[in-house]
Amino acid sequence: MFNLNEKLKSIKDKNLLREIHEFSSPQDSHIKLKDKNMILFSSNNYLGFCNDTSLKENSIETIKNFGVGSGGSRLTTGTTILHRECENIISKFKKKEDTILYSSGYLCNIGSIPSLFDEEFIIFSDELNHSSIITGIKLSKGKKIIYKHLDMDDLLNKLKDFSSHPKKVIITDGVFSMDGDICKLSELIHLCYKFNCYLYIDDAHGTGVLGENGEGTCEYFNIYDDRILLMGTGSKALGCVGGFLSSSSIVINYLKNTSRSFIFSTSQTPENAKTLSNSIIKCISYKKEREYLRQISVFVRGELKNIGYSVIDGITPIIPVILHDEKLCLKFKEDLFHENIYVTPIRPPSVSKNTSRLRITLSVNHSYNDLNLLIETMKKLYIKYEKYIKGEK
Ligand SMILES: Cc1ncc(COP(=O)(O)O)c(C=O)c1O
Repeated sequence: MFNLNEKLKSIKDKNLLREIHEFSSPQDSHIKLKDKNMILFSSNNYLGFCNDTSLKENSIETIKNFGVGSGGSRLTTGTTILHRECENIISKFKKKEDTILYSSGYLCNIGSIPSLFDEEFIIFSDELNHSSIITGIKLSKGKKIIYKHLDMDDLLNKLKDFSSHPKKVIITDGVFSMDGDICKLSELIHLCYKFNCYLYIDDAHGTGVLGENGEGTCEYFNIYDDRILLMGTGSKALGCVGGFLSSSSIVINYLKNTSRSFIFSTSQTPENAKTLSNSIIKCISYKKEREYLRQISVFVRGELKNIGYSVIDGITPIIPVILHDEKLCLKFKEDLFHENIYVTPIRPPSVSKNTSRLRITLSVNHSYNDLNLLIETMKKLYIKYEKYIKGEK
């Protein structure tokens, strides 16, 4: 009735079929896939917190004291003192008055954006914003205007068209999830003042990674402003799950009363709320580790570029190697797999057509031995696939 076989075949014919790998070990720089030992270069576990000993021990203790489930949504029975403690810790970390905690980052974006930005708003959105932002905007009744990725001139021109409109917001990733580059916060905040806009930043990948304390994009630029609504997640560098928005008390109170994915979904477990709190405290202390992460991110980018790959510049641990072609991405994935290196190929619709890539990510738990193995293997693959990489075949 649904023609699903045909539809799946068509996805497969375009080299876009997804397959799910099952790990039989904790998420870390070295993993087990069934019985195969591999080095993982595709996780968002940038600080290695997913399998951190002290975080795990504290989680077990919390489960003993608070159980495994939360039993309700936040407005019914699903709020413990650990949830509220976590919101307070995030607010302090992000230097904002208050915070609302959702069960995931996705739920945060699809819940907070439509609640805050109604039909009276014009929403300016970077073309490479994360899918959860795109869905959040679709669910909102606001008017959507997309500007070119990081192109402040394009944004300026689009803002000019609506300069007298009273309600506007710019929405951007802090660190872009697939490109690893950073939003231009100084210019963005300048435009916000010039055109009287709010700025909504999704800092899922900046949190834990950028700034001396790992606060994220605002700390990196040393820009703190009441116009900024700051979204983040516990699911990347912080090693657990959860999404949050930090802002003024009135914004947070309004969201707690109106945001559908907050109101109508079971809250995250007390254990996760406590782990997220502990992760933030640990993250602040991880200054040396963050500097190491930055150093290896720059090192690996440089080495891959020297080989000849097209790599997007940056300092974050998200290193996109653009191969353009979906089939070539799959071949790289398989060859790397044979060398016990796990890298996820990223293809449409996760990225736009002709920008398929390997999304290599690094963690503080990768040693220089791990990195050199990756680089040597990528050298061999460059020689093997040079003609394809250069688009000659
Ligand atoms: C930029 C960005 N925002 C939001 C999300 C969603 O966060 P979560 O995985 O916690 O649902 C992601 C996850 O991939 C992301 O990359």
